[in-house]
Amino acid sequence: MNAALVISEIGDDDVAAVVDLWTRAGLTRPWNDPQADIAFARASAEATILVGRETAGGPIVASVMVGHDGHRGTVYYVSVDPDRQGAGLGRAIMAAAEDWLKARGVWKLNLMVRTDNAAVAEFYRSLGYTLEERLNFARWIDPSKKPSA
Ligand SMILES: CC(C)(COP(=O)(O)OP(=O)(O)OC[C@H]1O[C@@H](n2cnc3c(N)ncnc32)[C@H](O)[C@@H]1OP(=O)(O)O)[C@@H](O)C(=O)NCCC(=O)NCCS
Repeated sequence: MNAALVISEIGDDDVAAVVDLWTRAGLTRPWNDPQADIAFARASAEATILVGRETAGGPIVASVMVGHDGHRGTVYYVSVDPDRQGAGLGRAIMAAAEDWLKARGVWKLNLMVRTDNAAVAEFYRSLGYTLEERLNFARWIDPSKKPSA
């Protein structure tokens, strides 16, 4: 299904609606401050948050944080309003993220799915993503930011 979205970069007035969308989509975690995540992405020339509306000026129904590290692209906070899921809007916001990356010369997108959200794998498979076996290592290089257990 090819649904249309009016895509724009997040504006100051959109921040509260985007945090609400991420919360209702079940994407926020106690150790990630969404306001800080939004501000950090917006401060970067290599990242942004795209928002999608079904009509110009209408409510935000989809969003994605997209960026690249000079090599590969990635996305976080891929989200569609729970009341509007299953109508092709997830596909549309991912297409917008891919277009944003391609416009910057990035030709591959890697993304992570939490193991407790494995059901969403079928969404990415429907979009043509394939599972690449990798060991994903991470380290809190600033331990002061590490959430307490
Ligand atoms: C994942 C999410 C963004 C998908 O958005 P959506 O608008 O519901 O998806 P679409 O309607 O665009 O679906 C696109 C395709 O994926 C498939 N799909 C979507 N969700 C699926 C699911 N949970 N299981 C199986 N297939 C799924 C659809 O059937 C559709 O396939 P088709 O085009 O071949 O018919 C949305 O469900 C969401 O916000 N989920 C909560 C947040 C989340 O988990 N985000 C991902 C974090 S990694």
